[in-house]
Amino acid sequence: MNRLNNKVAIVTGASSGIGRVTAKLFATEGAKVVVGARRQPELDRLVEEIRAAGGEAVAVAGDVRSEEFHKALVAAAVDTYGALDIAFNNAGTLGEAGPSTGVSEAGFSETLAINLTASFLAAKHQIGQMEKNGGGSVIFTSTFVGYSFAFPGVAAYAASKSGLIGLTQALAAEYGQQNVRVNAILPGAVDTDMYRDMNDTADKQAFITSLHALKRVATPDEVARSVLYLASDDASFVTGTASLIDGGASITRT
Ligand SMILES: NC(=O)c1ccc[n+]([C@@H]2O[C@H](COP(=O)([O-])OP(=O)(O)OC[C@H]3O[C@@H](n4cnc5c(N)ncnc54)[C@H](OP(=O)(O)O)[C@@H]3O)[C@@H](O)[C@H]2O)c1
Repeated sequence: MNRLNNKVAIVTGASSGIGRVTAKLFATEGAKVVVGARRQPELDRLVEEIRAAGGEAVAVAGDVRSEEFHKALVAAAVDTYGALDIAFNNAGTLGEAGPSTGVSEAGFSETLAINLTASFLAAKHQIGQMEKNGGGSVIFTSTFVGYSFAFPGVAAYAASKSGLIGLTQALAAEYGQQNVRVNAILPGAVDTDMYRDMNDTADKQAFITSLHALKRVATPDEVARSVLYLASDDASFVTGTASLIDGGASITRT
């Protein structure tokens, strides 16, 4: 408890899955949270739940492809709570999937826009604000796909998410002196809407499960607890990392 006392955090992709659970955990740990995604009703329900549990949160609905949305999230943090200390840039999409020879330029570009360019735009506005209050922690949601694991049919997703690792390293090097830490999490499979949409049969789920040493997929809470670590002062010397939270998928051949 209280690992994020007096901290102000932005969480995107907060309307479901990993982002929703992380926003609740941040609030439980004392952070004031600005939650973002496109679906306003889901965000409103999340804010209600956080407040009912004694926490503090506000919602800003929008699309991460818009630079104005990132400005609005930072403004909400500063206007409502006076600062910005933590940003979990987690919104993402699988995008256009299927054999790469059939993927459209529009589909490929859209996937990069949501998963990669949006994360750059987010950090651009978040870091400027964090510098004003002595530093902060930026965390991007990448994935094991495109790093330690390759699947056919997800070229745009893999390219966009591995791009986040380069972005993480560049920003960590650039803003370390300002005490802004930047890290990426690389989850294995996590039981969320995205996972269930991709793996919609028992056979597919059994295959994905078998790829992990732990022979199961993660719960969103297991990922949230790793994000909490990177967000908190416990990780005060951790920056520029690509942090696998993959149940041993990267070392499993059996
Ligand atoms: N589940 C897995 O196995 C897994 C593994 C590794 C990494 N990840 C990554 O984890 C992150 C969270 O995914 P999840 O598994 O928790 O799935 P999810 O429940 O589908 O969450 C995706 C979130 O991203 C938001 N989002 C998508 N496009 C957006 C846009 N254009 N603008 C604003 N928000 C947008 C969605 O909100 P709205 O629809 O309300 O906008 C939703 O809150 C993603 O970046 C994903 O790539 C997932």
